[in-house]
Amino acid sequence: MKEIPPSSTLKVLSLAKELEHQGKKIIHMEVGEPDFDTPEHVKKAARDALAQGLTKYTPSLGTPELRNAITEHLKEKGIETEMKNVIVTPGAKHAIFCAMVATLDPGDEVIIPSPCWTYEAMVRIVGAKPIFIETTRENEFKIEPEKVEEALTSRTKMLLLNYPNNPTGAVMTEEELRPIADLASDRGLWVLSDEIYDSLVYEGKNASILSIPEMAERTIYVNGLSKTYSMTGWRLGYAVAPIELISEMNKIQQASTSCAASFVQAAGVTALRGPQDFIEKMREEFRKRRDEIVKRLNSIDGIDCPKPGGAFYAFPSIKDLDISSLEFCELLLQKAGVASVPGSGFGPYGEGHVRFSYATSMKNIKEATEKIKEVVEELHK
Ligand SMILES: Cc1ncc(COP(=O)(O)O)c(C=O)c1O
Repeated sequence: MKEIPPSSTLKVLSLAKELEHQGKKIIHMEVGEPDFDTPEHVKKAARDALAQGLTKYTPSLGTPELRNAITEHLKEKGIETEMKNVIVTPGAKHAIFCAMVATLDPGDEVIIPSPCWTYEAMVRIVGAKPIFIETTRENEFKIEPEKVEEALTSRTKMLLLNYPNNPTGAVMTEEELRPIADLASDRGLWVLSDEIYDSLVYEGKNASILSIPEMAERTIYVNGLSKTYSMTGWRLGYAVAPIELISEMNKIQQASTSCAASFVQAAGVTALRGPQDFIEKMREEFRKRRDEIVKRLNSIDGIDCPKPGGAFYAFPSIKDLDISSLEFCELLLQKAGVASVPGSGFGPYGEGHVRFSYATSMKNIKEATEKIKEVVEELHK
């Protein structure tokens, strides 16, 4: 257990809650969830499902209705798959977990581009070893095939991709993914592709590695409804993988959670099949906020913020401030009442950055950036 790092986002959140409890006003820019409500027609579908008595276990792979809706939804994104290749889980996180338990042996190595989300804990829980490779601002935080190649050993079992990326917002084109796909095929690696932010892309289009035809046999595609439909608390995710792996992942699901909640799955069908205009509205709002927060952060001396292509995080460099990311976040929390996540929480290459979620109101973004400016000006004195 000593080797398993706790979630730094949740650590900041509990500290921020403690300050709030003491009466301090906190602007929450640490949490990774849309501040929009779940669309009303989706909530109604859950209420209807409950009224109809959908309150029992479902098949552990998920209901056929939802697995079907997922395959059709993916088809619209250019991903061809079949219902037998789909498993529904309580959140994308559990899909990732089932996949890792099913594929990794102790000592196996997983290549993870960093800055990265909290995959390390899951890899370590199964006794495997994370091998971090750096993604850089100069290369827009995209994974580089040469670095993957350098990190390969005889123990490499899996390559982890997360585009659009949390925390950097990086997106990948199909052209950029091809050499990565070739490498994975040549070396017989699993590719776990977490595409949970794929509907929140502001420039161009994020390509899925699963849309490269020969990749279906080695890809575990993970997605969910948390971010796209603002359903974080509902806990609904899914994975697409080769049928043999799906049945192994199903054993993990049967031994851990049995299935995702029945009425939540029914609401999931409505979310995927119902009107999709909610997503466009949310994306447009996030785009405005992204532009505002990036402009405002860049106006602060010592902060350098690239424009993220996707997701809802700004990930500026604070390297010129000569302070660790943890100290800076503590300062922001104590002096400005702004909660953010230190870059050191995103793998070994996150230090020197801070993550601000812009899934908060424009008013909060304006107020927070004013306060951040004051704290930085104090630091310069
Ligand atoms: C990159 C990434 N993957 C997965 C998840 C978890 O998604 P879910 O709520 O479906 O478990 C998150 C949540 O923050 C995330 O940022």
